Amino acid sequence: MFSQDLAPLDLNGAKIFKGLLDRDAQLVMVNAVRRVVADAPLFHPVTASGKKMSVRMTSCGRVGWVSDRRGYRYDALHPAGGVWPDIPPEVLDVWRAVSGCDVPPDCGLVNYYGEGAKMGLHQDSDEGDFSFPVVSLSLGDDALFRIGSTTRGGKTQSTWLNSGDVLVLGGAARLAFHGVDRLRFGSSDLLPHHGRINLTLRVVR
Ligand code: SIN
Ligand code: MN
Repeated sequence: MFSQDLAPLDLNGAKIFKGLLDRDAQLVMVNAVRRVVADAPLFHPVTASGKKMSVRMTSCGRVGWVSDRRGYRYDALHPAGGVWPDIPPEVLDVWRAVSGCDVPPDCGLVNYYGEGAKMGLHQDSDEGDFSFPVVSLSLGDDALFRIGSTTRGGKTQSTWLNSGDVLVLGGAARLAFHGVDRLRFGSSDLLPHHGRINLTLRVVR
């Protein structure tokens, strides 16, 4: 399934496996995400202050990441009720290939970026044990990804993430601030209506 050897690039301590997923593998992942979304529809999260996030989201796994007027958290239930679907086995194969970790993820967060969507700099810090990495798959349009250090306001570096790239935040970069400044909307024809799917795997416990 994986199109090249596993030699990642380093960006501020994050590992980027450029083009790890070839076109067929990307389509396998998109179909897996479609099955997740059919069970657990995308929703538009709001922050505690009532601001709508520009991405739409859903999750698979034991817990999902949600945000609403009560704040953000991992929750065992979808906002509309019901448990989350399992993380698809094809997706778990990617985790096994790059995470260097025997423990499987228990959350797969799906972010859908439509035209104009972005994500501000943040840390992934709601999990119980930061020795486990975060693995993030990019599907569809190119995204300008920014990563800094573990302190807010520190120096950052940016790179374009393309469809099929897999990024790992582990070790010293596990708590690095990161975000997505913008998309090149329409740059990929993987998704019929364009946009970008980001699927992030985490051990929450
Ligand atoms: C995230 O940090 O949750 C998403 C990052 C990305 O979309 O690449
Ligand atoms: Mn994140």
